[in-house]
Amino acid sequence: MTRFAVFASGRGSNLESLFESLAGRPEVAIVLVASDREEAQVLERAEKRGVPTAVVDPDDAPAILELLAAHEVDWIVLAGYLRRVPPPVVAGFRGRILNVHPALLPKFGGEGMYGIRVHRAVLEAGEEVSGASVHIVDEEYDHGPVVAQRIVPVEPDDTPESLAARVLEVEHRLLPAVVRAAAEGRVRVEDDRAWVEGELEWETR
Ligand code: GRF
Repeated sequence: MTRFAVFASGRGSNLESLFESLAGRPEVAIVLVASDREEAQVLERAEKRGVPTAVVDPDDAPAILELLAAHEVDWIVLAGYLRRVPPPVVAGFRGRILNVHPALLPKFGGEGMYGIRVHRAVLEAGEEVSGASVHIVDEEYDHGPVVAQRIVPVEPDDTPESLAARVLEVEHRLLPAVVRAAAEGRVRVEDDRAWVEGELEWETR
């Protein structure tokens, strides 16, 4: 069984989609949900499912590493986690930390590029397409190699909110698909490249 920890700072809709999509798959489990914010809704979602939770000091690498070891975590998934992963944790989980980002990286990423700001920037730039990306986390915000992306067309009457909602639906399918591939050992990382071997099991809902 492949054991995942999910780190998130807020609402946790991506965590919910992971729970739904991984139900009935004994080969993959979310064994820990951690947040830097005590009041984050994501913690309630985990508690409802009986998954252990933790509030972490995002800069305390030894404590985070100890927590991950205690839960025998294989992979970390950042799902709306707004803090940088400290370098010792990146080093300890090199190539085994995934992040979902609501745009087509390497465009519209980096420090401060999160939430509605991303979609506002996409519209202000006059882009015809946006999308969702899942990438490997390294020491820089939104920087590591992209594992998988899906395009979402920008509509002429889009607002940042309407675009965010359409991109989020795609995130909810893309992230579980990549997590399942990771659990099957099909997420490959080599230097500055990452990819899924074989097909992404893309759910239609
Ligand atoms: C998502 O758009 C994710 O890509 C971004 O933050 C948002 C988190 O949403 N990093 P949720 O907390 O999963 O509902």
